[in-house]
Amino acid sequence: MIYPVILCGGSGTRLWPLSRKSYPKQFALKVNGESLFQASARRFSEPPPGLQFAAPTVVTGNDFRFIVTEQLLAAGVEPGPVLIEPAPRNTAPAILAAALFLCERDPDAVLLVAPSDHVIPDAAAFGQAIARGLPALAEARLVTFGIQPDRPETGYGYLELERASPDGAPVALRAFVEKPDAERAARMLEQGGFLWNAGIFLFRAADLIAACQQHCPALLPPVEAAINQGAPDLGFFRLASGPWSQAEDISVDYAVMERAPNLTVVPYQGGWSDLGGWDAVWRESGPDRDGVVTSDHATAIDCRNSLLRSEAPGQELVGIGLENIIAIAMPDAVLIADRDRAQDVKLAVSSLKSRD
Ligand code: GDD
Ligand code: MG
Repeated sequence: MIYPVILCGGSGTRLWPLSRKSYPKQFALKVNGESLFQASARRFSEPPPGLQFAAPTVVTGNDFRFIVTEQLLAAGVEPGPVLIEPAPRNTAPAILAAALFLCERDPDAVLLVAPSDHVIPDAAAFGQAIARGLPALAEARLVTFGIQPDRPETGYGYLELERASPDGAPVALRAFVEKPDAERAARMLEQGGFLWNAGIFLFRAADLIAACQQHCPALLPPVEAAINQGAPDLGFFRLASGPWSQAEDISVDYAVMERAPNLTVVPYQGGWSDLGGWDAVWRESGPDRDGVVTSDHATAIDCRNSLLRSEAPGQELVGIGLENIIAIAMPDAVLIADRDRAQDVKLAVSSLKSRD
């Protein structure tokens, strides 16, 4: 049985002011009428032919537990276990907790770990990629999914393939490079033979636990204790905060993937995007001939390469003669930024926090 695990504990600060601490982007940002989280969950409630998915397990923060169940209900998705983290400790502890929790209930559990901030328009192609990855699990391999890069992005992991795979067949990994600096990213793009890490992983829960034991052994005792001392609460499973606070704050990419030698990549050729910032939202929203994207209640006059989005009911947003601008209007906050500085929106969030 394949157990989808959806990670949705991130704070999404680069999509401020839409994404807020109490209502982050995975729940707030809607594409085609559903939130990114709902789209991720629905992807797993309709398994491709030949695959069987359990109801999705969600790992999230205490503040989001009711948003999770409400949004699953609204999307018509049957909820699986919801694990509540007392505090965010990044993706390695979150994934290990899900692996330990599910392995205890089903020692043969296969986990399909997915973030909740992605857009994957072609669910069928994604399903085929998952099916292609399954045979590698028999050799205790950890499977990642690779995306053809088209720019020297520094916010992603890069997968160096052992050899080219023009037909999309799974291939062993030579190296995993998480978030390179700009120079190294440009070099890898130029050299070729690298794919972006989609951030989606497929493995047997037992193999991930073994990989943690080998590559980040200090993570196991606190996460195991957080599960063992954790308790069900109103249909959720609450991890114990004492041991959880002792778990290192580290992403699975650094803790396991960069270190493990048993990685396999399945190249994925369908559409994929991590809506990590407003520039990505602009790119994925299908800019018009002038490169402009407007929402309802937003008007662009003589603008170019700009995103104008009004989320404030009854408030019109108008841009005239703008070039390369992101303008987001919320009822209580307005962001106006150079599109090339979209990644720096997180700076606004830290500077506002420091004024609290
Ligand atoms: N439950 C939980 N707890 N979820 C978390 C936590 C946490 O502490 N931290 C992050 N997440 C969730 C986020 O909400 C997101 O859905 C997912 O885990 C990935 O975290 P990001 O913070 O968005 O990671 P990233 O985008 O910087 O990098 C990862 O994804 C890239 C592709 O999108 C890496 O795997 C890269 O290698 C990869 O290229
Ligand atoms: Mg991300």
